[in-house]
Amino acid sequence: MTYLDLYIQIDKYLESKLFFQVVEMKIFDYFHHSTTKEKVAQEMKISIKRLEPLLRVLIKLGWVEKDNEKLINNEKVDKFLYSKSSYYIGEILIIKKELLDFEHIGNLLNGEESKSKRIYDFDRMLDVGAKEIEYFRVDTLIKEAAQLFESESVKSILDLGGGSGLFALELALLYPEAQVRLFDRRSVLDRAKSYIKKRVPLDRLDYQEGDFISDDFGKDYDLIIASGIIDFAYNDVKAFLRKLKDGIASNGYIFLYSASLLKDDALINRELRWLSGRLRSNLVTVSKEEIEHGLEDAGLEVVKKTEDLLYPIWILRRI
Ligand SMILES: C[S@@+](CC[C@H](N)C(=O)[O-])C[C@H]1O[C@@H](n2cnc3c(N)ncnc32)[C@H](O)[C@@H]1O
Repeated sequence: MTYLDLYIQIDKYLESKLFFQVVEMKIFDYFHHSTTKEKVAQEMKISIKRLEPLLRVLIKLGWVEKDNEKLINNEKVDKFLYSKSSYYIGEILIIKKELLDFEHIGNLLNGEESKSKRIYDFDRMLDVGAKEIEYFRVDTLIKEAAQLFESESVKSILDLGGGSGLFALELALLYPEAQVRLFDRRSVLDRAKSYIKKRVPLDRLDYQEGDFISDDFGKDYDLIIASGIIDFAYNDVKAFLRKLKDGIASNGYIFLYSASLLKDDALINRELRWLSGRLRSNLVTVSKEEIEHGLEDAGLEVVKKTEDLLYPIWILRRI
């Protein structure tokens, strides 16, 4: 490592800070159509002299492209960060950043920051979870499920700890014969209900409140979605996996999503992103090895290892 490698940290920090600020300012809306710096300065009601240095950076970073005197968003930037694009994820990125951010690592280590109560906006969080599923995750689920089941053969589905319930909703739409259950804690379910009602209310979608560790969540499901929940069973992973196995029909499947199933080289991102959460709460990460042992103990086998755009997925069935 040279001193230059260390100085690069400053650039990374500044680039990231700039990124979030321009996304918050919806800067990329100005460059959706080919434009000029004079026009943008006028629209932003700022002097062109102030705009120019920023533009040079946006261009150097490749976020905005220059064609003679005209300026336009880079194609990918335009797709995801032009606020009227149907793929817009600026809001998701900002909320995720707020959730994962920390003021001071020293305070987190000695428990100071967790004492100063952070205020979470749970409705926004639910909205983000739903959008992530919609944009990055549901297509893979539908594709993988279609390879396992004939549409009419699926009669019952459980989305365990389903949060927004968007997986449950999409599966209910995909499988017209299926009764779909969303299971979560009461506070989450109340939000999910009103969220789903605003979208497509379906009689075949029911809600069960409870604690998936201590309460019964039913059995004979053709499909159980267990996405992002295994860490909550850290006290007894084996017992939880046995409970999941008992929940599926003899020819049913479990879709287990967990960042712990990431390949090792991707783990650093996971550790970094969740560092503040891990230090703030007592939530423990369940390791891939613990999951593997738990599967063996429960009598579950991995039929397929795959991934959506955000998380790895192991598809499981009874041995
Ligand atoms: C990380 S979120 C995942 C949400 C959703 N499955 C997804 O992938 O977007 C974890 C969910 O598990 C729920 N949860 C955690 N522990 C639970 C428990 N013991 N009983 C019921 N739900 C629980 C939380 O309320 C939350 O909705």
